[in-house]
Amino acid sequence: MEYYIQQWAQLLSKTLGEALSPEEIMTKIEIPKFTQHGDLAFPCFVLAKLLKQSPQSIAEQLAVSLNHKAFKKFEAKGPYINAFINRKEATKETINRILYEQEKYGSHTFGKGKTITFDLSSPNIAKPFSMGHLRSTVIGSAISHIAEKCGYQVIRINYIGDWGTQFGKLIAAYKRWGDEAAVKRDPIGELFKLYTRFHEEATLDPQLDQEGRFWFKELELGNPEAHALWEWFREESLAAFNRIYTLLNVTFDSMNGESFYNDKMEAVVTELQNKGLLEASEGAMVVRLEDQDLPPALIKKQDGATLYATRDLASALYRKQHYHFDLSLYVVGHEQTLHFNQVKSVLSKMGYSWADDMEHIPFGMILKDGKKMSTRKGKVVLLEQVLKEIIERADHSIKEKNPELEARRIIAEQVGVGAVIYHDLKHYRRNDVEFSLEEMLKFEGNTGPYLQYTHARGCSILRKAKVKPSVIEDGLEDDPSWELVKLLAWFPHTIEVAFEERDPSTVAKSLFKIAQAFNHYYAHTRILGGAESKAKLGLTRATILVIKEGLRLLGIQAPVEM
Ligand code: ARG
Repeated sequence: MEYYIQQWAQLLSKTLGEALSPEEIMTKIEIPKFTQHGDLAFPCFVLAKLLKQSPQSIAEQLAVSLNHKAFKKFEAKGPYINAFINRKEATKETINRILYEQEKYGSHTFGKGKTITFDLSSPNIAKPFSMGHLRSTVIGSAISHIAEKCGYQVIRINYIGDWGTQFGKLIAAYKRWGDEAAVKRDPIGELFKLYTRFHEEATLDPQLDQEGRFWFKELELGNPEAHALWEWFREESLAAFNRIYTLLNVTFDSMNGESFYNDKMEAVVTELQNKGLLEASEGAMVVRLEDQDLPPALIKKQDGATLYATRDLASALYRKQHYHFDLSLYVVGHEQTLHFNQVKSVLSKMGYSWADDMEHIPFGMILKDGKKMSTRKGKVVLLEQVLKEIIERADHSIKEKNPELEARRIIAEQVGVGAVIYHDLKHYRRNDVEFSLEEMLKFEGNTGPYLQYTHARGCSILRKAKVKPSVIEDGLEDDPSWELVKLLAWFPHTIEVAFEERDPSTVAKSLFKIAQAFNHYYAHTRILGGAESKAKLGLTRATILVIKEGLRLLGIQAPVEM
């Protein structure tokens, strides 16, 4: 599509005696809402002043003087001049390009030679994997796939929350009330219970908080008992998280969590001190950020314990040295915006201009009946259970639709998990998302199963045809195929926008439109047999290639039957 915009802009510019440059014209070209108004439109208002004529008469004159082989005709419509692309040529061109490039279609090279680190998922050990961490995982991995498609090298880092005062509290709680066998049976559930109990009882018994602080201090000092407990909690938690990652089909290049930076923190504190940035405030050490309109960043507590911000400074420095990133993205909920602003500001003050390449990618919450799903007070929805339940339900509905299906269990998993991922990614990431299993699993409407089903339907047409065209000789001209081809032609541009906006929902929306257009096409066309059968099968194959690749970018599998 960009090709046609360019061609037309050049033609217009030439015809207008270069009154406007092709680049200026390109920014003004619009896509008409209705097909009967053509494929591209140029508003002539901008020319009225320059040419001292009414936009209507300019449009009329242009309609008769323009001529280009890529376009079938030009029509004046009020103050607009509309261009109708030569469909036969364009459909052939687009379909052949997709059939030739296959899964590479939509790739870009502008990221070549550049590296992006992604901070994503990053759940906290000894706590359930929350809905927020699910969002970080699926949004982060989708953006990382999109970045790869744009040519970037990507490093996915799971910054596990495995350090901090909460582990002092957990050790204190375990030492008071813990039961080894119970923890072994249900590690996360039991540890989380202990943690919750600690908070409840600490309101009545101030002694507890002191114990918590004591144990964290011991942990930071390397006390073997504290360390062994922490190690055990960590291992059990990672095993549980890994089950979720396997289901979601996500992988990481680094699992360096907060504790990895324990021996790298003193250096940060010293550097801050040497650069004259560290100040004592009420016994704690802080970096003042008033000039940035931010509250001070807490670097060290009164008792010498380091903090979340200190660890993020150390990890940012490490990542820059280690990965030489050109961009460093943090996919973390919007409640941490202040934290990331502080970390970036401190790094700038330290003289690191690359702090500007750090970007917080915030996202909204997952809501249930309009309310936040909380991990506090033991009131949690366990993700693993949610995934298992949705797989069961998917299995059930597939059985009803297609009782003969062979690998049903595997497909149910792909459909169930895909439904959860798509439901998240179809919303613009900053918006909150209402959680609903029923909504996610619908086979109609804007859902994962609908896209997968459309893909499987396309595959089944090709199976029946027993041919898999890899090139077509003639293009198509009818409205339904043209609508579909136009959407497919926009796909590369969609990828670029999705990357620039760090927004997977751009891809989701485009796939949904493609699936709708394909189903519309399918309903209006006899694809198998009849005239133009090769071109129609070519278009079918091009469509499923794009849907499959788009789903892959979102982290969703595309079964060939379901
Ligand atoms: N573990 C943190 C939490 O659950 C998220 C970590 C985000 N990444 C970071 N570099 N701070 O809130």
